[in-house]
Amino acid sequence: MKNYKLLINTNTKKYPIIVGDKISEKLLSIFKKNNIKFNKCLLFIDKNISKKKLRKIINPFKKKSKLFFFNPSEKSKNFNTIIKVLEILQKEDFNRNDCLIAIGGGITGDTGGFAASLFKRGLKFINIPSTLLAQVDSSVGGKTGINTSYGKNLIGSFYQPEIVVSDTDFLKTLPKREIVCGYGEILKHAIIKNRNFFNYLDKNVYKILNLKSPYIEKAIVESCKIKQDVVQRDEKENGLRKILNFGHTFAHAYEATLNYSKKLNHGEAVLLGMISAINFSNNLKIMNKNDYKKIFNHYSKTNLPSDIKQYFSTKDIKKLLRFIQNDKKNLSNEINLILIKSIGNVNFKGKFKIQKLNQFFINLLNN
Ligand SMILES: NC(=O)c1ccc[n+]([C@@H]2O[C@H](COP(=O)([O-])OP(=O)(O)OC[C@H]3O[C@@H](n4cnc5c(N)ncnc54)[C@H](O)[C@@H]3O)[C@@H](O)[C@H]2O)c1
Repeated sequence: MKNYKLLINTNTKKYPIIVGDKISEKLLSIFKKNNIKFNKCLLFIDKNISKKKLRKIINPFKKKSKLFFFNPSEKSKNFNTIIKVLEILQKEDFNRNDCLIAIGGGITGDTGGFAASLFKRGLKFINIPSTLLAQVDSSVGGKTGINTSYGKNLIGSFYQPEIVVSDTDFLKTLPKREIVCGYGEILKHAIIKNRNFFNYLDKNVYKILNLKSPYIEKAIVESCKIKQDVVQRDEKENGLRKILNFGHTFAHAYEATLNYSKKLNHGEAVLLGMISAINFSNNLKIMNKNDYKKIFNHYSKTNLPSDIKQYFSTKDIKKLLRFIQNDKKNLSNEINLILIKSIGNVNFKGKFKIQKLNQFFINLLNN
């Protein structure tokens, strides 16, 4: 099967993303080909990766590596984990010619990458994303970070990896629910930036969700290309990159209001957040009617989470608004929302008073 290679070229680093089946089992040759060198490494591993798969990945590194098994959850994506990782790196006398390799989903990559960025002001970092969401989104663009009791991803850094190796074989053991979550970010990229890609998804969504080749590979690569284009133009989120937050102000408030419970995981919150932003855009009459219907039909034919009443009632509104206000994207008393005019065309200048959002939730939850 074919491998794909994208070269990310940011102001701080140039690095490859390789996508292909079973490629994490050939890391030594991939590293050699791409001139990736380090002395020893800390393997920071999501404990839910199958042991059989893991053996095939890590055997070549056994002699020069330390293992840290991590139980990923939004609650363990925190300072305690970072401190534990930094302790090991110090105790084992790591230096900047060494490396931290994260093997896992977005939580593992974000946490591992953040620890690497802190250690001696920057240990080499390699990301091996094992969920669809991580392969299409979180492993691209160098955002790392952790959560605090005040909200999600509030502490973090921009820290680009040496290389990203996205092995589609991982996806075979991923629960269906997690596949849908990753699909949400693929859909987000299409909605904000590429109408043709949206049409491709609309036509092939079942094949993609069933991991059929070459549809799944194409969906991953196209999604990475959209994010690549955005982060290359605005690595540190001074402007354009904000469009990638489409749906996320709502999503982060949904996750936080439910206290990051398994009832609604990150990807599902993003799907709900996107449909909320689409509803909000439609209420303001800035959105193309046909595209509104197209996106709604796509959600309903695929059974994507779209009804916030399944998760919240009017008594949650106060809490939702508090988390929306706390979101790091809001620099003043007004709420910044990324809204949409049509598929492929976002409007990122929307600023709204909290009362407007209050009314929006009252209407949605009373309906
Ligand atoms: N850095 C960024 O730019 C960025 C972008 C989007 C999302 N994120 C972050 O990503 C996180 C969500 O990532 P996620 O959805 O990958 O969640 P996750 O890391 O929690 O993984 C989801 C679940 O799948 C399990 N898992 C991982 N790989 C597996 C495999 N191959 N087989 C079976 N199970 C497996 C994990 O143990 C976990 O239970 C959030 O914290 C979000 O904030 C970051």
